[in-house]
Amino acid sequence: MDAKTLKKKYIDFFKSKGHIEIPSASLVPENDPTVLFTTAGMHPLVPYLIGQKHPLGKRLVNVQRCIRTADIDEVGDTYHHTFFEMLGNWSLGGYFKKEAIELIFEFHTKILGISPKRYAVTVFSGNKTSPKDIESENTWLSLGVPKERIAFLEDNWWWPPGSTGPCGPDTEMFYWKPNDIPGPKKFDPSDARWVEIGNNVLMQYIKTDKGQLLEAKQKNIDFGGGVERTVTVLSGLEDDYLSDTFLPIIKKIENLSNKKYIGNEKAMRIIADHIKASVFIIGDGVVPSNNERGYVLRRLIRRAIRFGVELGLKQFTKSIGTAVFKIYSDSNYDFLQKNKHHILTELEKEENKFTQTLQQGIKEFNKIVDKWKDINGEDAFLLYQSYGFPIEMTIELAKEKNIKVDLNGFNEEYKKHQELSRTLSAGQFKSGLQDNSDITKRLHTATHLLNEALRRVVSKDIKQKGSNITPERLRFDFNHHNALTQDEIKAVEDEVNKIIQQKLTVKKEDLPLKEALKSGCQAEFSIKYPDKVTVYSIGSYSKEICMGPHVDNTSQLGCFKIIKEESSASGIRRIKAVLE
Ligand code: ALA
Repeated sequence: MDAKTLKKKYIDFFKSKGHIEIPSASLVPENDPTVLFTTAGMHPLVPYLIGQKHPLGKRLVNVQRCIRTADIDEVGDTYHHTFFEMLGNWSLGGYFKKEAIELIFEFHTKILGISPKRYAVTVFSGNKTSPKDIESENTWLSLGVPKERIAFLEDNWWWPPGSTGPCGPDTEMFYWKPNDIPGPKKFDPSDARWVEIGNNVLMQYIKTDKGQLLEAKQKNIDFGGGVERTVTVLSGLEDDYLSDTFLPIIKKIENLSNKKYIGNEKAMRIIADHIKASVFIIGDGVVPSNNERGYVLRRLIRRAIRFGVELGLKQFTKSIGTAVFKIYSDSNYDFLQKNKHHILTELEKEENKFTQTLQQGIKEFNKIVDKWKDINGEDAFLLYQSYGFPIEMTIELAKEKNIKVDLNGFNEEYKKHQELSRTLSAGQFKSGLQDNSDITKRLHTATHLLNEALRRVVSKDIKQKGSNITPERLRFDFNHHNALTQDEIKAVEDEVNKIIQQKLTVKKEDLPLKEALKSGCQAEFSIKYPDKVTVYSIGSYSKEICMGPHVDNTSQLGCFKIIKEESSASGIRRIKAVLE
C-alpha cells in the first residue's frame, strides 16, 4: 500500500464514523512558545483539548506534518525520522477509551487488513500516582487480542510536548515486521521487530506549570499513527527508506553518487531524511541561521552535506530536494509546490556557504585531533566560528574517532564571544572613531562609499558586518558567499573613485531612529540604537546611521584602492583599502 492510499483510507474511515477532517497545521507552532516545531497532531489542538470549543465539533481527523528533533542522532536506522506525517483522530470530550480502541482496531484489522497474528498492544501498568489501565486491557481482550499479546508498561504515558497541558496514559499498537518468522505468541515490546504503528492517548489529566496532575474536566482521545512506518509494514518491507515515502529520494542519491544503497545505508538515510525535513521546514517559512529553528535547519542541511561529501556528492541538495517534491505532489502540499523555487534556492545557498568551509574545517579538525587527541572548548568554538561546524557535528565527528569534546568549554567560549561582540558594537557606536585625524576621517567617508558601492556593483544583499579604521587603512567586513573576482574588485574601486570625483557634499543630520530607518538608511541590525541618531548622507549616493566624524566633501578623499580581499569568517568577506 502506498502512503496516499493509506491516508485516504484513514480519513475516509474516520469520516464515516462522524469525524470532520481538519487541515495540517504549519510545522512552526502558532500558539506554543515552549517548543520549536509541531511534534504531533495534538499539538495545534491543545486549546481545544483543554476546553475551548472547536468550531467543527467533537470528532476530528487529519494528517499532520511533524518534526521531531530529539531523534536527529538516531536517524540512520530503518525507522527514525526527523520529518514524518501523523495520522490523527480526536475526541474532544466525546467518546473515550472503549470506543477509541474499538475504532482503531476496526481500522487496523478490517480496513487495512492487518492479521491478528501480527498484532500486539501495550497498556499502562500503573505507578505511584495513577492506577493500572484496566478498562483498556478489558477492551483489547473483548476484541480478541490474547492476554499474551498485551504488555503492561509504566512508560505508557504521554506527557504534553511543552511544559504544561493535557496528558494521560496511552495504549500503543504494534505490528510484527518479519515476513519469514511468525509473530511469537508472547509479545515482548523490547523486541525491535515489533514496530509501533499507533498510539491512543487517553487524556485524563492536565499538567500544571508546577508539575501537578489535575483530573481534566474534559476527557479526550488523541490518536497518532506514523504514516511512514505503517506504509512500510503494509508493503511487506522492513525499511522505511525502501517504501514510497523515501524511495524516490534514495534512488536519486544512488544515481547522483553512482553508489548502491546497500552498503551505504546510513549516509543515504541521513541525507534523505535531513533534506526532506529541510524542504518542509523551509516550506513553512524558516531559513538557516544560528538561532532556534533556523539553527536546527542549518544543522540538518550541514549534516546532510557532510554525509553527501562522504559519498562523493557535490552540489547535490537541490537535486535531492527536487525528489522530495515528487513524493509530496497532491493538493495537500500546494504550499510546498508554491514555494519550490524559494526552498531549493535556500538549500543551495546554505550548501554553497558550507561547502566552502567544510573541507578546510575537516583538515583543521584532523590537525587538532592529531595534536591534542581530545577537542577543547576553544578549538570546538574555532570550528564553529570559522568553519561553520555546528557543535553537534564536531561531537559526532569526535565520536566516530572515539575522542571527547569539551562541551562546557565550548559553551563558555560561545558566551564569551557573544559578550565580546556586544561590547565591541556598543563601544563602536558610543565612541565612534578612536582617532579624529584627517586621514581617519577620510578613510571613514571612503568606508561609506565602499559599503554602498559593494551593494550597487556586487550584490544588493550585502550588509556591513564590521568596520575598523586605523590611520594606515580601512577594514570592512560584509556578508557574501564568494570571494570577489578581480573584475568585481576593479569595478568596486572604479565606482568609489567615480563618486569621489563627483565632489559630493557630506551632510550630517540628527533624526528620530524610526524616521532614519524609514528613509532607507543603512544600519547595523546587531546594534541597539538610541531613539535619536545621527545620519550621514553623501550626496544622494549613500545614507548611514553613524557617529562620524567625516570629511565635508568627497573631493578631499584622493584615490581609493583595495589592497586585500579575503575571508573573515564563514559567509563573511573582508576588504582592506587605502586612500592614495
Ligand atoms: N500524541 C500522540 C503521539 O504523538 C498520539 O504519539
